[in-house]
Amino acid sequence: MNTNTNPLKPTELRVFDIPALMRLERRCFEYHWNESQYKLGLERGAFRIYGIKTDGRLVAYLAFSLIAGEMEILNLAVHPDFRRQGLAKILLRKLFSFCAARQTEAGFLDVKRSNAPAIALYQQFGFEQYGVRKRYYPDTKEDALLFRCSFLGHTTPA
Ligand SMILES: CC(C)(COP(=O)(O)OP(=O)(O)OC[C@H]1O[C@@H](n2cnc3c(N)ncnc32)[C@H](O)[C@@H]1OP(=O)(O)O)[C@@H](O)C(=O)NCCC(=O)NCCS
Repeated sequence: MNTNTNPLKPTELRVFDIPALMRLERRCFEYHWNESQYKLGLERGAFRIYGIKTDGRLVAYLAFSLIAGEMEILNLAVHPDFRRQGLAKILLRKLFSFCAARQTEAGFLDVKRSNAPAIALYQQFGFEQYGVRKRYYPDTKEDALLFRCSFLGHTTPA
C-alpha cells in the first residue's frame, strides 16, 4: 500500500513537465523518446500524457493518443521506488474513463514479450493479444506482442 499522505491523483502533463518526464524515462527505459519528440507531440496535440506527482516529483506517467475512436498507449512507466503501489492502475483507470467519455471503440498497445509485469497489468484491464511483431524493438530486438482492448461493454477493474 502507498503510505504517502498526499493523494496520488493523476494530472495532465504539459510542456514544462518534459524535463522531469525525461528524467523518469531514463530511469525506466534503456531506449526512450527525446525531448523534442515529446515537445512536438504535446504542442501539436498528437498525444496526451497523464502523470502522478508526489511531493512535487513526477513518479509515474502514461502517454497515449486517441485518433478516430482508437486509443493507443504509447508509453507507461512507474519509478522503480514506487512500483507495486497501484500507480499504473490509477493511470489506466484515468485513461479508461477519458476513453469512455469520448465513446472510444478500442485501445491498442505493444509490449515486449519478456515484460511479464506489464502484460499482467494490461490483461487485468481487458487487453488481449492479437498479434506479434518479430524483433520489433530497436534496443533488444525483442518481439512485440500486440494487444487490443474493446471498450464496448467494458468494465474497468477496481
Ligand atoms: C509495468 C509497470 C508500469 C507497472 O507499474 P506498477 O505501478 O508497479 O503497477 P501496479 O502496482 O499498478 O500493479 C498493477 C498490476 O500490474 C501487474 N504487476 C505489476 N508489477 C508486477 C510484477 N512485478 N510482477 C507481476 N505482475 C505485476 C499486476 O497484475 C498488478 O496487479 P495486482 O497488484 O492486483 O497484482 C512498472 O513495472 C514499470 O514501470 N515497468 C517498467 C516500464 C515498463 O515496462 N512499462 C510498460 C511498457 S509497455
